[in-house]
Amino acid sequence: MKNKSLVSINDFTQEEHLKLIDLAFQFEKEPPLDKLRNKVVATLFFEPSTRTRLSFESAVTRLGGRVIGFSDASSSSVTKGETLKDTIKIVSSYCDLIVMRHPLEGAARFASEISNVPIINAGDGANQHPSQTLLDMFSIKKTQGKLENINLMMVGDLKYGRTVHSLLMAMNKFNTTFYFISPPELKMPDEYKMLLAQRGMKYYEHTDMAEYIDKVDIMYMTRVQKERFSDPIEYEKTKNAYILNNEMLRNTKDNLKVLHPLPRVNEIDVDVDDNHKAYYFDQARNGVFMRQAIICSILGLI
Ligand code: CP
Repeated sequence: MKNKSLVSINDFTQEEHLKLIDLAFQFEKEPPLDKLRNKVVATLFFEPSTRTRLSFESAVTRLGGRVIGFSDASSSSVTKGETLKDTIKIVSSYCDLIVMRHPLEGAARFASEISNVPIINAGDGANQHPSQTLLDMFSIKKTQGKLENINLMMVGDLKYGRTVHSLLMAMNKFNTTFYFISPPELKMPDEYKMLLAQRGMKYYEHTDMAEYIDKVDIMYMTRVQKERFSDPIEYEKTKNAYILNNEMLRNTKDNLKVLHPLPRVNEIDVDVDDNHKAYYFDQARNGVFMRQAIICSILGLI
């Protein structure tokens, strides 16, 4: 992993994913303070974020490193017309690693080709969000004690949701059975279903989560991605397609955990927050340990 960029979840092997999960467990138990002393990480966020940016920044700061960057491109020279290429070229001469979120699919790959330092993709349009996937896998392992043979339901915006795309690409290597629940307009894109078919993996598709809710170990809820719709009427039609509440969880498996990359809008009722099956706030906290593991591995500090 040393000096490698993490743009797609497939940039790291399955063995490397497992190593990072082990390391995140270790860092949670015994934080390696000072590991990032004298290291500078740049966070360049061309799109809004709460968890990803702040958990990366917390991860670095807690290990003694420094953070530079911007949370809003309007405070950078992008507003004067500076290109992404020039921005990356310059920032990569100021730091050891860049964490970047950008609305355009492929922007992180482009950045990795011109940067002097590794790039971590913190989300590029509807494409990929690999550090989220690794923290999701860490959360699955923590709650289920394993990654193999999980029944994984993905609910909501499966068309534009980059977190579900990355998670599918990683979890299909662990004999996962997938249940895709979405409105017809927001179905899992064919390219991802073809990948599962080629690997002989089982998947089921439905518009009603009640159909399979009693079978699953992990329910991965997602927000309908308003910012990806070109037609606001289409967004209005689908935004309230799924609202999970406590009553719906009544006859689910004891080991079921509800995950959500967050932010939620209204797809999980607040009454679920106190249910022992709700895991989304712990999942967000897990992001700090996983991001410490990713950064230290890429910087060759393990
Ligand atoms: N999960 C996630 O990507 O959240 P943010 O958009 O707040 O970073």
